[in-house]
Amino acid sequence: MIALLNNIEMGYDEGGAGVPVIFVHGFPHDRTLWTPQLQGLTVQARCFAVDLRGFGETTAAAPYSVDQYADDLAGFMDVLHIERAVIAGLSMGGYVAFAMWRRHAHRVRGLVFSNTKAGADTDEAREKRKSLMTVAREQGSGAIADAMITGMLGKTTRAKRPDIVNTVHRMISSAPVDGVVGALQAMMERPDSNSTLGSIDVPSLVVTGDEDAIIPIEEARVIQAGIRGSSLEVITGAGHLSNLERPAAFNHVLSEFLARLSLE
Ligand code: MLT
Repeated sequence: MIALLNNIEMGYDEGGAGVPVIFVHGFPHDRTLWTPQLQGLTVQARCFAVDLRGFGETTAAAPYSVDQYADDLAGFMDVLHIERAVIAGLSMGGYVAFAMWRRHAHRVRGLVFSNTKAGADTDEAREKRKSLMTVAREQGSGAIADAMITGMLGKTTRAKRPDIVNTVHRMISSAPVDGVVGALQAMMERPDSNSTLGSIDVPSLVVTGDEDAIIPIEEARVIQAGIRGSSLEVITGAGHLSNLERPAAFNHVLSEFLARLSLE
């Protein structure tokens, strides 16, 4: 489906009834990352998965920023008449969730930070992003997929689930180059969210995989320690895409979180 907002067309999927949950993909993914959640959580929640600017069906010229991505989520909520929603972001989607809290806290019912971190990029990380921009511009998204696929998935998934490896490789290969380059720039320029953690006072869940090679488990611990009352769930045998690699385990912890949140 397509929603018109902030002068862009935003691609999204929707399913289910209950507390609204908006799933925000990472880099360089699209909303299909969240297919197992849209299939598995609809008895409990009104689930939405959106394509951020430059990905999937959301075409918009760069430059982008994490603030702009968050403003798009707020615009999306306006169009869909959703007053407050749980924002569930994976990796780059987590950076957007932090921006959503800073800019639109009154629209946030709860937060899920999956395989993400609070800190900004180091100088070294910015240099790596610049090289990736060159790869994207000169060789296209297929080369980005080749470069990222090993780190993106846990060793268990890589050994046992060639179907998931193929799905993710295809997803990254089909990402528009402008979206990839724009997102790299947005992530390079994102602010540090460590000082945001202490202000978060809505129910929050931190999830990661014990085989995440891109963002180590310590980063999840930092987020959990910084947000009062939050909990941390570590999914075993999952890497950076824990929701896709171990969907039943991921859906279980999310389902328990949503059940607790509904009682508050
Ligand atoms: C992601 O999955 O969104 C990226 O790995 C995040 C990043 O590069 O910082």
